[in-house]
Amino acid sequence: MTRAGIQVAIDGPAGAGKSTVARELAKRLGYLYIDTGAMYRALTWLALQKGIALSDDEALARLAEQADIALLPLPGGLTVLADGQDVTDAIRTPEVSRHVSRVSAVAGVRAPMMRLQQKLAEQGGVVMDGRDIGTHVLPQAEVKVFLTASVEERARRRFKEMILKGMDVDFEQLRNDMERRDREDFTRETAPLVQADDALYLDTTGLAFEEVVGRLLDMVHSRTGDGR
Ligand code: DC
Repeated sequence: MTRAGIQVAIDGPAGAGKSTVARELAKRLGYLYIDTGAMYRALTWLALQKGIALSDDEALARLAEQADIALLPLPGGLTVLADGQDVTDAIRTPEVSRHVSRVSAVAGVRAPMMRLQQKLAEQGGVVMDGRDIGTHVLPQAEVKVFLTASVEERARRRFKEMILKGMDVDFEQLRNDMERRDREDFTRETAPLVQADDALYLDTTGLAFEEVVGRLLDMVHSRTGDGR
């Protein structure tokens, strides 16, 4: 089956609203939404489950080569499978969040994940969010956005999200985790978070969700020649 449409790459730090914005954008465009962070999270969950030492790069790389990570665009939302198990909720726990940056910094983990992501996007009609989409995974993407917001605002948004899901969470801890993850994501040796030269920088602090989605929709329409 072929999908019409272009590739949209959305990168930025944790909690910038990438996934909410990307999901809504994909829905309005009738595109496939691909959450690459969820793929690294699913792998981290598998590693923890299997008791793999997170300092063992080779074991993590082997796991990434063998693991069956799938994203299913079901009507109720994106469902994440790891070796056939539904891990959609399990990958959002603070434990997975604490370890995922380390796991995703392993070069041998990134290569197979990137291949999978490129395969999912090859027919176009996708909105993909992550950290290295515009720079490495889809450097040819027609629309690239670097979405960010202040740490305080990002922690507040994530806090609300988790409370709504009925999770027990401490704001200060969340804010500290967010800061630590920023440090790790921006400064790590393998695939540090950088903005692609040709990406639009969009700071969403204080911007309404609808405003952000509208800006991105305009960008897509101007590339596809659809002036709506
Ligand atoms: O977007 P997120 O918080 O679910 O991402 C989880 C982690 O995965 C984050 O610490 C960085 C990493 N990640 C990555 O290295 N490359 C991506 N394309 C997506 C996420």
